[in-house]
Amino acid sequence: MTDLDAVLGNAGPTGLKERIAAELAAVRERSLAYTDADDDMLVRQHSPLMSPLVWDLAHVGNYEELWVLREVGGIEPMRPEIDPLYDAFKYPRKDRPSLPLLGPAEARKYISGVRGRVLDVLDRVNLTDPDPLRAGGYVFGLVLQHEHQHDETMLATLQLSRRPGLVRDGELPPGRPAAEPEVHIPAGVFTMGTDTVAWAYDNERPAHRLYLPGYWIDRHPVTNGAYMEFVEDGGYRDPRWWLPQGWEWAERGGVEAPLFWTRDGDTWWRVRFGREEPVPPDEPVQHVSWYEADAYARWAGKRLPTEAEWEKACGGRTYPWGEADPGHLGRWANLGHRAARPAPAGAFPDGASPYGVEQLIGDVWEWTDSWFQPYPGYRCFPYEEYSKVFFGETYRVLRGGSWATHPSAVRTTFRNWDYPIRRQIFAGFRCARSED
Ligand SMILES: [Fe+2]
Repeated sequence: MTDLDAVLGNAGPTGLKERIAAELAAVRERSLAYTDADDDMLVRQHSPLMSPLVWDLAHVGNYEELWVLREVGGIEPMRPEIDPLYDAFKYPRKDRPSLPLLGPAEARKYISGVRGRVLDVLDRVNLTDPDPLRAGGYVFGLVLQHEHQHDETMLATLQLSRRPGLVRDGELPPGRPAAEPEVHIPAGVFTMGTDTVAWAYDNERPAHRLYLPGYWIDRHPVTNGAYMEFVEDGGYRDPRWWLPQGWEWAERGGVEAPLFWTRDGDTWWRVRFGREEPVPPDEPVQHVSWYEADAYARWAGKRLPTEAEWEKACGGRTYPWGEADPGHLGRWANLGHRAARPAPAGAFPDGASPYGVEQLIGDVWEWTDSWFQPYPGYRCFPYEEYSKVFFGETYRVLRGGSWATHPSAVRTTFRNWDYPIRRQIFAGFRCARSED
């Protein structure tokens, strides 16, 4: 499944092992930071949409045990009795608080015990073995990305808890207005998906050629300021802009602004990690559902891009700015929790794609018009519950990662998906339109 040369690069298997060990240490440090809170905070369910934080913590260790220790290492289960508790498909999130979960101290001890053995497996595994879980360290990429994905989920839980003081903030570069707010992408064939990105998931494969007619796409994600105009214009009270299911959803829930927004006189305020602040107009809007994004786009005389249009706008590279890993450098994108918010529109001119589209990676996940469907020639690997069971017309695709997404868990081919009503995720959008 992996292109070994691409992942090994000049470093060879030893260099790759060192990189994996460093990334494993970094992701664990992150998970422990997000769960550095009192026990009540960790075992409580802050929203029926989310697991208790202590569930996520033990679950990442259990997943690591299943895939690295048992599948690759051939090691006997450490705590077979807890497996069903941490199987994401066995119990829905709303039922998890009533399970006999490991407590915070026990969970930390369990995952650190797993991790010690994982490092032993890493030490002895042959990363040039043709077995697709071993080749290029795929299984380690799998657990690393999985843990970072749960870390982002934990941030969503921390946001829903409205408890201040638990999530650090940071500095971001200033924004700048776009002289040309839309970018034209000419008609033509492009390659969607990948065969070569070593740790890409099955749903990103295989690469395939696709023709798209010419279209326009927004240079930046839609900002809070632009979204406020939709709200002030009565966008939430006018069924013309909404799909019937979206209208019904908004009516039933009394939805009249993004999640976490409230109005005080003429000013919009938001709650961000337990603190209230005025909504900054130049930041990309986040915490909107697919239905809200879709309604805004119709109000603006546009539409959401398809995921193919979104990906083509990236210009056919692993990242819009090229192949360089965004890991250590802040020049290109707002990723990996540099600050606890999206960066203002225009903050990353160096991260533009060859077409000049900006902030495709980082800041906010971007809703697209597409259902989550397999690519032609899709092959399930390594298990059906990662992607296959979600394909169909139930979930809408999101692209590009958010400020909370780690660089090793996103790329231009990366596909995320969620129900069109979900708003607790760090999601916004940009618009597109067809050529006249
Ligand atoms: Fe998981």
